[in-house]
Amino acid sequence: MEVKHLNPVPTGHRRLLKWVEYWAGLCEPVGVYWCDGSSSEYDGLMKGMIESGLAVELSREKHSDCVLFRSDPSDVARVENRTFIASRDKDGAGPTNNWIDPDELKETMRGLYAGCMKGRVMYVIPFSMGPVGSHISKIGVEITDSAYVVVNMHIMTRVGGAVLDTLGENGEFIPCMHSVGKPLADGESDGGKWPCAPLEDKYISHFPETRQIWSYGSGYGGNALLGKKCLALRIASAQARDEGWLAEHMLILKITNPEGESRYMTGAFPSACGKTNLAMLIPTIPGWKVETIGDDIAWMKIGDDGRLYAINPEAGFFGVAPGTSECSNPNAMRTIDSETIFTNVALTGDRDVWWENIGYPPPGGLTDWTGAPWKEGAERPAAHPNARFTARARNCPSIAPEWEDPAGVPVSAIIVGGRRPSTVPLVQEAFDWNHGVFLGSILGSEVTAAALDIKAGTVRRDPFAMLPFCGYNMGDYFRHWIDLGAAPSATALPKIFSVNWFRRDRDGKWLWPGYGENSRVLRWIFERCEGTGAAVRTPIGYMPAPGAIDRTGLEGVTDADMEELLSFDADEWRAEAESIREHFARFGDRLPAELRSELDALESYLDSEQDGSRRR
Ligand code: OXD
Ligand code: MN
Repeated sequence: MEVKHLNPVPTGHRRLLKWVEYWAGLCEPVGVYWCDGSSSEYDGLMKGMIESGLAVELSREKHSDCVLFRSDPSDVARVENRTFIASRDKDGAGPTNNWIDPDELKETMRGLYAGCMKGRVMYVIPFSMGPVGSHISKIGVEITDSAYVVVNMHIMTRVGGAVLDTLGENGEFIPCMHSVGKPLADGESDGGKWPCAPLEDKYISHFPETRQIWSYGSGYGGNALLGKKCLALRIASAQARDEGWLAEHMLILKITNPEGESRYMTGAFPSACGKTNLAMLIPTIPGWKVETIGDDIAWMKIGDDGRLYAINPEAGFFGVAPGTSECSNPNAMRTIDSETIFTNVALTGDRDVWWENIGYPPPGGLTDWTGAPWKEGAERPAAHPNARFTARARNCPSIAPEWEDPAGVPVSAIIVGGRRPSTVPLVQEAFDWNHGVFLGSILGSEVTAAALDIKAGTVRRDPFAMLPFCGYNMGDYFRHWIDLGAAPSATALPKIFSVNWFRRDRDGKWLWPGYGENSRVLRWIFERCEGTGAAVRTPIGYMPAPGAIDRTGLEGVTDADMEELLSFDADEWRAEAESIREHFARFGDRLPAELRSELDALESYLDSEQDGSRRR
């Protein structure tokens, strides 16, 4: 079948053209449009979506160049149970991923893709993850039938001609195939409704050996903006393993002390644990400054000087709106003042946005995320709990001037942290690299009874916050971290720290205020990297010596609170060790012996403590 191109084909890359023609032939769109990433392209597509009723333009007085989309109620988040790692061998995907044989999966999906773009335009989006031309960056090309995806990709990645120039006639690209899975009959239109397929037909598929992504049936976030979780984490993690670098679910921040010395830190926190807030934090300690490099993903490579260099592969933030406020994150509030796409937030009568915990009461005349009128006291929230903003990094007041440096920034500290009401202290420093990998491998959050059908107090382990994002066997992923630490070229690796902003006392009250006050902990980490911060050795790591966390001006945290925040409770750690053993058992032989030894060392300390013969 002859493929109809709606604009001039901007590349002579034969493999790329053949790939596009193959999918156009199978999906049968009305034509193929090559995206150039220009503002006129963005404006034209947005105008079309506003006119068709899919998007609402917000008041220019409140938010310039901002729009609101409402998704289908069945398509509001990443679908982990429909996300697949289709490696040749089931063990390649490991115990934490859904697996289907790649040939079988491709056959099923080809059936779904056949004719799936009828009545729609097929967009081809050449994009770069990372600054165009950086030796750490990667090029992808996404095919999609969603204009919403195109405009979001404009913000989240670098789209356009410069990418094709870098690709030349034969360069490597990661092919990313996407369809919302809702063909249109002759004369039919979406009528302003978000198109998607039913849950059982959604597939977010990854073929790590052949570096391919096939996504079908969802138009939302990480399921559809394929540069983010699919490319920059799942496929890139497999590439990173093969090529000796790291693709991680981590923020990157820059911190500067009053003397003007700066250090860079990365941080792995499970989804919805405040990564964006930490990346954009405003310190409460005088003279200190935090700037943002990235809020979700870090790609890190060992440099010629033996240090680890990080880039943020993204160009925007896809942040959770509810809970974002002038109090929790003023920098995010300024970032979303302009050029922002909101999805599933509530709309005010004067075309402004509102969400739960935005910091002021809901104005009257609200329309909720489903498009229905909403009144205070209603049972369901006005904004969907996973409502999002897609905003440009360059509009963030705290963005660091070097955020697009193609060489990356040298990392001094890697931080890992989950939500742990007990057991895990406010901050601890790993004894060494392998102990740090151990701390990352046991990262987790406590699940409340209400959240899932799981016993309250159960810890959901989310190693390095990569549970939904590791594109291969998690046991091999741990091995990769251990091996990287032992690489002869890695002569100046970062120190590794664990933090926990979420400790509660016996009455359930938060022990630590969080947000800007977290700068006090970052300061201790900074000082440990300088070799100055005072620490005491405990069985689980180095902890701040009494008084080493600056509490000047901090109200509400007593000496007793501080003692509890930095305590080590042997009974709690005995229960923890048992739970870690169960967690590690999932990985069988693929668990590195080094991690088993870390756990053995902890357990033998706990035993010796019990029988009075203290070791470690
Ligand atoms: C995200 C996530 O959207 O981690 O960043 O779920
Ligand atoms: Mn994330």
